[in-house]
Amino acid sequence: NRKPIIAIDGPAGAGKSTVTRRVAQQLGLMYLDTGAMYRAITWLVLNSNINLDDEAAIAELVSQVSLELTPQQIKINGQDVTEAIRTLQVTASVSAISAQGAVRRELVKQQQGYGQKGGVVAEGRDIGTHVFPHAELKIFLTASVQERAKRRLQDLIHAGEKQITITQLEQDIQLRDYRDSHRQIAPLQKAADAIEIITDGLTIEDVTAKIVSLYQEAI
Ligand code: C5P
Repeated sequence: NRKPIIAIDGPAGAGKSTVTRRVAQQLGLMYLDTGAMYRAITWLVLNSNINLDDEAAIAELVSQVSLELTPQQIKINGQDVTEAIRTLQVTASVSAISAQGAVRRELVKQQQGYGQKGGVVAEGRDIGTHVFPHAELKIFLTASVQERAKRRLQDLIHAGEKQITITQLEQDIQLRDYRDSHRQIAPLQKAADAIEIITDGLTIEDVTAKIVSLYQEAI
């Protein structure tokens, strides 16, 4: 007898994080950012003497990892990596880590633990398809590559990044989408029962309101 769950999936830069946070706030649900968990593992690998493709060593690392996740902060093995996981370096390497079976098994297990009692809005790539296949509401949030690159550029400029161009960002996004959608395990895919929202030209408020009203209809 658990409380409802909302699953929000979609490609990089579709506005998932901002919208998911707001939906959680408005509905009084817990916010779960599963991408942050894959990013934290990636950060740990990059800061260990382990190659990105050394699956055995990464499996060993993941089997002993301690992740502490709140809506405001993420810690891995006691270290606060909330900001460190957002760098271009982590972003460029995360798809290689998130494609590995041992990593996904461990993180999905932890995510399902957070969702055990429900009352969660979770965002990621495989939430509606694998993590919470019985979610009461599934949203697939997407936007054109151009729109997503534009938004990423704003975020990065805001964070003090000056070296990046829109063309580079479009390429990065396309590459990450391709890798996330073509991996063997739990690729990015719209669940059959997900509602797609294309966010080009919509404001954060528009999208949030739409999801909140879909939730109220679904419950
Ligand atoms: O959402 P975000 O951009 O932070 O996700 C970072 C990466 O983590 C994605 O590009 C993807 O490789 C991986 N990821 C995943 N499954 C999820 C969430 C994120 O594979 N549920």
